[in-house]
Amino acid sequence: MAEMVRKSSVGEVVNHWILAGSCIMLIITGYSFLFHIEVISSVFGGFETMKTVHNWGGVVFILSLLVSMVHYLKDAFEYDADDLQWFKVAGGYLSHKVKVPPMGKYNPGQKLYYLGIVGAGIAIALSGFGIWFMKDNVTVMLVSHLVHNVAFCVFVIAVPVHIYLSTLANPGTFQIMVNGMLPLSDAKKKYPKWMKSVGKM
Ligand code: HEM
Repeated sequence: MAEMVRKSSVGEVVNHWILAGSCIMLIITGYSFLFHIEVISSVFGGFETMKTVHNWGGVVFILSLLVSMVHYLKDAFEYDADDLQWFKVAGGYLSHKVKVPPMGKYNPGQKLYYLGIVGAGIAIALSGFGIWFMKDNVTVMLVSHLVHNVAFCVFVIAVPVHIYLSTLANPGTFQIMVNGMLPLSDAKKKYPKWMKSVGKM
């Protein structure tokens, strides 16, 4: 059997499922509120109960986003010359002819995705609490609805792209979400600088 290497700890795997599950549930219920989709609300027994599920799902999401900061925030702020070169060749996604520089544990696309999720996550949570608890303040309600809807658009675009890149576009990556592991040979090919830093290369 191929030798495996651990990329995500058990805590990272569990928290990612909580983050992903709550986020997708919030996107679906939020979409139903926005466009008044009764088929979706009926699954929850109506709009009132769906609102309770949405609000408390938001609490789960923000807690899990805070936990994720322990896992990814430091990496997400570190960029080197290879990362900058990665941007110049668009990660090799637009052409097979370009030379993609060697990568560390996360590529710059993943790091920016994470920072985007943190930014949009904080914005959507703060505005969500504004809508939930400050119904009597017209200004807070207006600003909160605007921010909530703009941040919602960020999630609707970023999350499907992330899911596609973590599954169909990069076969083998989904396994990291399931058990945190990947074959050592793949890790050496995809993340040589990370493998070097942990003495596997
Ligand atoms: C349900 C479908 C999803 C799949 C299949 C999926 C898959 C993955 C995989 C495989 C990784 C590890 C990548 C690596 O280590 O190279 C990852 C990381 C991550 N995922 Fe997801 N994910 C999903 C949903 C979500 C959602 C909804 C969020 C929303 C907040 C999210 C946020 C993250 C973050 C922040 C990371 C770490 C940074 C990164 O790798 O970009 N994921 N995901």
